[in-house]
Amino acid sequence: MKITKICCIGAGYVGGPTMAVIAKKNPNIKVTIVDINADRIAAWNDEDVSKLPIYEPGLAEIVQETRHKNLFFSTEIDKAIDESEMIFISVNTPTKTYGKGKGMAADLKYIELCARNIADVAKTDKIVVEKSTLPVRTAEAIKSILHHTGNSINFHILSNPEFLAEGTAVNDLLYPDRVLIGGESIDAIESLASVYGSWVPDDKILRTNLWSSELSKLTANAFLAQRVSSINSISELCEQTGADVNEVAKAIGLDSRIGPKFLKASVGFGGSCFQKDILNLVYIARSYALNEVADYWEQVIIMNDHQKRRFADRLIKTLYNTVSGKKIAILGWAFKKDTNDTRESAAIYVADHLLSEQAQISVFDPKVPCEKVLIDLNYLNTRTEKENESATECHQDPYEAVKDAHAVAVLTEWDEFKSYDWKAIYNKMKKPAFIFDGRNLLNKDEMNAIGFEYHAIGQ
Ligand code: NAD
Ligand code: UDX
Repeated sequence: MKITKICCIGAGYVGGPTMAVIAKKNPNIKVTIVDINADRIAAWNDEDVSKLPIYEPGLAEIVQETRHKNLFFSTEIDKAIDESEMIFISVNTPTKTYGKGKGMAADLKYIELCARNIADVAKTDKIVVEKSTLPVRTAEAIKSILHHTGNSINFHILSNPEFLAEGTAVNDLLYPDRVLIGGESIDAIESLASVYGSWVPDDKILRTNLWSSELSKLTANAFLAQRVSSINSISELCEQTGADVNEVAKAIGLDSRIGPKFLKASVGFGGSCFQKDILNLVYIARSYALNEVADYWEQVIIMNDHQKRRFADRLIKTLYNTVSGKKIAILGWAFKKDTNDTRESAAIYVADHLLSEQAQISVFDPKVPCEKVLIDLNYLNTRTEKENESATECHQDPYEAVKDAHAVAVLTEWDEFKSYDWKAIYNKMKKPAFIFDGRNLLNKDEMNAIGFEYHAIGQ
């Protein structure tokens, strides 16, 4: 099928950047991104591209170049479905918060709503592409919903998981390691391959069956997260033995079979994907009674929870076993640098633990708006909103955030933190002034020379 019009349902962290790049590289295809969230669509349509709903380096330029030419953002979902030959489903698939599989399984209600919406509206043949991360065999359910429309429309389902990472989304989309397309119809697979083919070399476009494609996405995230938990587990051993986790990571990463990437010890991984996808993998394994498989992967999450908790506990212990009434400055609230996304950020859990110990927290993040900090803390439901509010400050200026603080906790690896005037920060803090570097970002010798008591991960 020749593709002239694409619709993407879901204008989020994946739908937005992915479709912007598809539109840029395929000027002859009209790409419309639709969403039920009217505010989000309005933000994507804002003439001032610094107000786009998500921050990704390089994204604003691409949106500016393509928007109103062949890239459109709209709330008219039915219209976009009706006119497109290819429909991407890129809606959220969060962990279930109710019923069977609560806290583990992926909540597929938004996916099902999309399938029903497509079934209701479609009058011509469609290729439906799963872009969201889904449990293996979800395509079966989508197929079943679409094929019961009562008319003679042909639907072809493809699985095309997205491997972009936030903060580097544009680069990851422009130069992907691979594009994965799973499906049953060769024609449908080739139609999608031709969309990517306008900028991705064909040998990087992998064609598989539907189930391999769906399962590969969960597996990739599980393997990546496992590396972080593995190095974080070693970081604790380093702290006991005098080994330095940075040196260990370098030493093992030079083994070409291990490789150097994803070996940075940290306060713990965050983000909307790793935890959700591993929990989902564990749930699927248990549903097939594969308990050893489930236990194996669950350990990645257990280790990550331990690392976040351990970081906060170490801070408290070092501050003479109490942070009650003490101000702790938190630099970085996003789950990693170069994004405004805070979903599952380690900072939220560290802050929550410190608040439970009656600390006063003072937060600065270069891209996260202050109101988001309280939203994230309130979402945990650990204490009342009023209590969170009275114990939490948020600042637009890092030097204000650290004023009179007993300790600074660096929880996101923003580059700009390295170039701050740390002597000035030291002067503003209570003494002894402590730094707990959850990203091993700062220079230990420099910090010690200024007078800080500096603590890093795995050292
Ligand atoms: P998101 O929450 O940023 O965006 C999802 C959007 O879908 C929201 O704006 C929501 O309003 C919209 N939506 C939900 N139901 C809808 C419906 N019925 N009709 C129209 N719009 C609807 O989520 P995201 O981060 O973009 O993730 C989307 C999917 O991609 C998830 O399955 C996720 O696991 C996967 N994924 C995410 C990343 C990432 O880095 N964020 C990377 C790879 C894969
Ligand atoms: C991840 C996958 O990398 C991506 O392929 C997938 O499509 C979505 O999930 P993302 O969550 O956006 O991407 O960011 P990623 O770079 O993977 O980082 C995830 C978390 O792990 C962050 O909190 C990051 O700080 C942490 N991390 C990563 C480490 O602590 N150490 C590392 O060495 C790497």
